[in-house]
Amino acid sequence: MNNFVKIFDTTLRDGEQAPGCSMNEEEKVKVALQLEKLGVDIIEAGFPIASEGDFNSVKLIANQIKNCEVAGLCRANLKDIDRAWDAIKQAVNPRIHTFIATSDIHLDYKLKKTKDEVLEIIGQSVRHAAKYTSNVEFSCEDATRSDIDFLCSAISVAIQSGATTINIPDTVGYTIPSEFAKMISSIREGVAGIDKVTISVHCHNDLGLAVANSLAAIHEGARQVECTINGLGERAGNASLEEIVMALKVRNDLNPFDTAINTKNIYPCSKLVSSVTGVNVQPNKAIVGANAFAHEAGIHQDGVLKQRNTYEIMEAEEVGIPSNYIVLGKHSGRHAFRDRLNEFGYSLSSDKFEIAFKKFKELCDKKKYVFDEDIEALINEEFVRSGNYYQLISLYCSSGTDEKPSAKLSLSIDGKEVNVNEFGDGPIDSVFRSICKAVELNPKLNSYNVASVTSGMDAQAEVSVIINESSHTARGKGSSTDVIVASAKAFINALNNLRWRKLHPKIASPKGI
Ligand code: KIV
Ligand code: ZN
Repeated sequence: MNNFVKIFDTTLRDGEQAPGCSMNEEEKVKVALQLEKLGVDIIEAGFPIASEGDFNSVKLIANQIKNCEVAGLCRANLKDIDRAWDAIKQAVNPRIHTFIATSDIHLDYKLKKTKDEVLEIIGQSVRHAAKYTSNVEFSCEDATRSDIDFLCSAISVAIQSGATTINIPDTVGYTIPSEFAKMISSIREGVAGIDKVTISVHCHNDLGLAVANSLAAIHEGARQVECTINGLGERAGNASLEEIVMALKVRNDLNPFDTAINTKNIYPCSKLVSSVTGVNVQPNKAIVGANAFAHEAGIHQDGVLKQRNTYEIMEAEEVGIPSNYIVLGKHSGRHAFRDRLNEFGYSLSSDKFEIAFKKFKELCDKKKYVFDEDIEALINEEFVRSGNYYQLISLYCSSGTDEKPSAKLSLSIDGKEVNVNEFGDGPIDSVFRSICKAVELNPKLNSYNVASVTSGMDAQAEVSVIINESSHTARGKGSSTDVIVASAKAFINALNNLRWRKLHPKIASPKGI
């Protein structure tokens, strides 16, 4: 058996299903291009029947991506499959990914179908998909809670009907490595023709075991893993791409398997995904967290300085974290600035580059040292986040021990200037109240977080907010050396995202996911 493991990235589908992680079409294409650069084998671009927006973004990605397969997800029915095919058919190598649940609990309560009916549906749908392409993946949703004999029958029908990849999802993140390994080995023993197809696994992280379960499955013969950048995904997320890839690379002695991932592109990809989704990576996240390569304890610092591998099992540069923090500043020119942007995976048109360079120089006047994180915050704010229907023109805010906090704000709404002022319980409250008054909306503020982008008294503040209005949730981010301005920008950014979400509602809340 060969030792090559295909990396199937589902950041744009399962990752995007995580609450507040929606991306617009432009953002999805950007992420897809970065995934292509990273070297993933398959990009699951979305769920075309779910909404017009999903369909369009899958189609755009299918048209632009040249070096990876592009998959569209669909339930096991003819209409879903037709829609998925319509979205992906222009791809260089399109893949139809169809699924139905196989566990008793899903059959009895969700599908309300008998086992025979489900087998019939699998046969019909996979045969239908196979008329379009030989690249058909079939997933048995909730496989790890399915009866093993029925699971084998379902897989068998899918293979006989033309599936070329069989995916075994741990949909609810319930299994543990030893059990999952046994399940994969039972499937390999119990299903005729399984050796002719690729076995895939798709693990969720509800018990924090998604990566361990994926690795256990690889050892038993799985040759495709489904995963996401930063481990994004439903609930506790999916198996993290960067963790699986680096576990295979760093411990290749015990995991003798290869992938086509260019690991130096991991960090730029992680950064891009967190900036477009607005979901920051926790600092202690393996591989890509801010602390993953930081040594705080004196004894560790001393060890690393004497011999790096005393406390480091891999080099930061291996995953694309720039080694030499050459701090840019007001003497840095266009060349150095462009090089740094390229390192992050941003390639701006010359117009956008000039805007970014001007902003960078403005920042240099405010801050002595401009760190990589500052530049990323600037680029993200300027170009990556969606929409500028609402834009901050100016803000004045006053507060103090003997003063009722108030804000005076000027906002551009679709190009028209609106001026408001409001009092509040604190300066941020007064700013948010003024913004709400100007836009005539009253969203609920679910979360408000301030982080320092870098260290030092002149560090930029990065504010993240989550707001909610009726059934819509949106995130927003803003950065500035002034925390009040950063807060206003984050709130306005969230309002733009909220507006975008309202304009692109998911038509169907897809059953079965
Ligand atoms: O978790 C799951 O079962 C899925 C399938 C649709 C593959 O996401
Ligand atoms: Zn999933």
